[in-house]
Amino acid sequence: MSTYILGIESSCDDTSAAVLKDTHILSNAIANQDIHKTYGGVVPELASRAHQQNIIPVVEVALRKAKITKNQLSAIAFTRGPGLLGSLLVGTSFAKSFAMGLGIPIIEVDHLKAHILSHFIDDEDQKAHPQFPFICLTVSGGHTQIVKVDSPNKMKVIGSTIDDAAGEAFDKAAKIMGLPYPGGPEIDKLAKIGNPDAFTFPEPNMQELDYSFSGLKTSFLYFLRDRLKEDEQFIEKNKADLSASLQQTIIRILLKKLKKAASATSINEIAIAGGVSANSGLRQAMQQTSVELGWNIYIPKLQYSTDNAAMIAIAGYFKYLDGDFAAQNLTPYSKSTM
Ligand code: KG4
Ligand code: ZN
Repeated sequence: MSTYILGIESSCDDTSAAVLKDTHILSNAIANQDIHKTYGGVVPELASRAHQQNIIPVVEVALRKAKITKNQLSAIAFTRGPGLLGSLLVGTSFAKSFAMGLGIPIIEVDHLKAHILSHFIDDEDQKAHPQFPFICLTVSGGHTQIVKVDSPNKMKVIGSTIDDAAGEAFDKAAKIMGLPYPGGPEIDKLAKIGNPDAFTFPEPNMQELDYSFSGLKTSFLYFLRDRLKEDEQFIEKNKADLSASLQQTIIRILLKKLKKAASATSINEIAIAGGVSANSGLRQAMQQTSVELGWNIYIPKLQYSTDNAAMIAIAGYFKYLDGDFAAQNLTPYSKSTM
């Protein structure tokens, strides 16, 4: 008998619901919150309110697209954390009540583990899945981690950022340049027409497998402040070159430690996940490195790179197989537990 999991994601500013039939994707509906563009970043109070407005319509769309009724659902998986508490409360409370009404179990999912497990979503264009053990570089707006993945439910963080996440580096640099939020996709677009060697920014000298991005942000800020003194139009004239150079620096920093991790663990199954894995420069650099070093690489489809509920549903599916269900009295957490 097939298992139907409804996944619910509400950790930040996207409200998403998805249905999987075992590992196969049936639907993945997302409501983005444009309101935050006005403020240049996510405003937590507005995000919770928008989730409250969107959650039921998004779930309805997911069920309709999946062509199933709510009574066919086997369980409901939801993001417990990390993320914005008010936003997480909306998804958690919805999942609890809906599951109680249907008399089915709930499954709590860690958002970061779900990004990694997005590689196991069976989709027409995503058929190859990493073999265990594999290394995953998770790069999102809030986290940057190198994770050794032994099984769907056994993962170990072997490197992480000590300050800003890679996505934050993109977003903050974009804000400094006056680009709209979220800045990552904007920089990616501009980088395509810029010269990555036009400017040089310093790379941190971190121990072991750890990352740091706050120094890069500061040097970018000081560099622009000095240039703007000479030419008020400096950013406007050099947007593309600045984007390409910054993006190249971030990718170099990310790949340096990823290569180190692969060599230290002697693992050549290498995946990337999280919003920044949508970056076209990073995807290209992964392809090149796979040829150079003989890696088998796994890059999620774009819709599974950024926040989505399909990844919550697949993570929930693995827990469902283990009978790992959550209690009705659990509460969300804002900080990573990985
Ligand atoms: O995983 P995600 O959707 O949400 C979090 O869990 O944080 O990641 C969001 C981050 C943002 O910082 C956004 O700027 C970045 O992913 N991002 C990108 C691209 N698309 C999204 N960064 C660089 N290039 C992109 N194409
Ligand atoms: Zn995420």
